Amino acid sequence: MNEKLINKENLPKHIAIIMDGNGRWAKSKGKLRIFGHENGTKSVREVVEASAEIGIENLTLYAFSTENWKRPKLEVDTLMKLLVSSLRKELHTLVDNDIRLNAIGKLDALPEKAHQELLEVIQKTRNNKRMTLTLALSYGSREEIKNAVKQLASKVKNNLMSLDDIDDTVINKHLYTHDLPDVDLLIRTSGEHRISNFLLWQIAYAELYFTEVLWPDFKKEHLFQAIENYQNRERRFGKTSEQLN
Ligand code: IPE
Ligand code: IPE
Ligand code: MG
Repeated sequence: MNEKLINKENLPKHIAIIMDGNGRWAKSKGKLRIFGHENGTKSVREVVEASAEIGIENLTLYAFSTENWKRPKLEVDTLMKLLVSSLRKELHTLVDNDIRLNAIGKLDALPEKAHQELLEVIQKTRNNKRMTLTLALSYGSREEIKNAVKQLASKVKNNLMSLDDIDDTVINKHLYTHDLPDVDLLIRTSGEHRISNFLLWQIAYAELYFTEVLWPDFKKEHLFQAIENYQNRERRFGKTSEQLN
């Protein structure tokens, strides 16, 4: 799949990816799961750079879910260490490519070191303009929605807002993703066909793309394939095909 086949006039404004299959990739090679996570970071770098290069404005990567805390302690600890080392190693990639780092999720649940490193890179890249890279860390969509509901209920209760003020825009403003547009294209690797508590509100009208490719094997050409596939779909948003033309 060649980059030239992509129509630059019809790029998704926001791509979100459920990066799945690291464990199975490692297992197929007779290695420990963590070997898969390590190799997954190489795909992250390639996909981030390729996205920025072709002009994607928002890329959101599901890196660790609220449910992933239930994994064996050794795996969780190693994933957190990998997060710290990747942030350190990739700061220059973000700077060189004019990419702003952003994070969504219950960030204070992260180990102190990872949390601090994350905030530091966010701070250092805050004025970058080409693309916003959002990492979903300790992220759960139901928790995000629950928080928004609580904030809104409290504002209504304290007369800071009336019930009639609550519309889609206001709800959006109370989500972790308040400064991001809706997802246009959601990709999940590894052949699983589920959402796993990711961006439930934000994918209301996203195009879904599932591929068998395991995350450590997912490279530039796979991303371009997904975008080309997206560009061949008709997004009707409830209208008829005739209305669109
Ligand atoms: C995705 O790969 C990475 C994380 C969820 C952190 P997995 O670790 O889920 O790999 P599989 O699905 O077990 O193969
Ligand atoms: C979803 O993958 C979470 C991330 C990719 C970070 P999982 O591998 O945790 O999802 P399930 O549990 O198989 O649905
Ligand atoms: Mg998985």
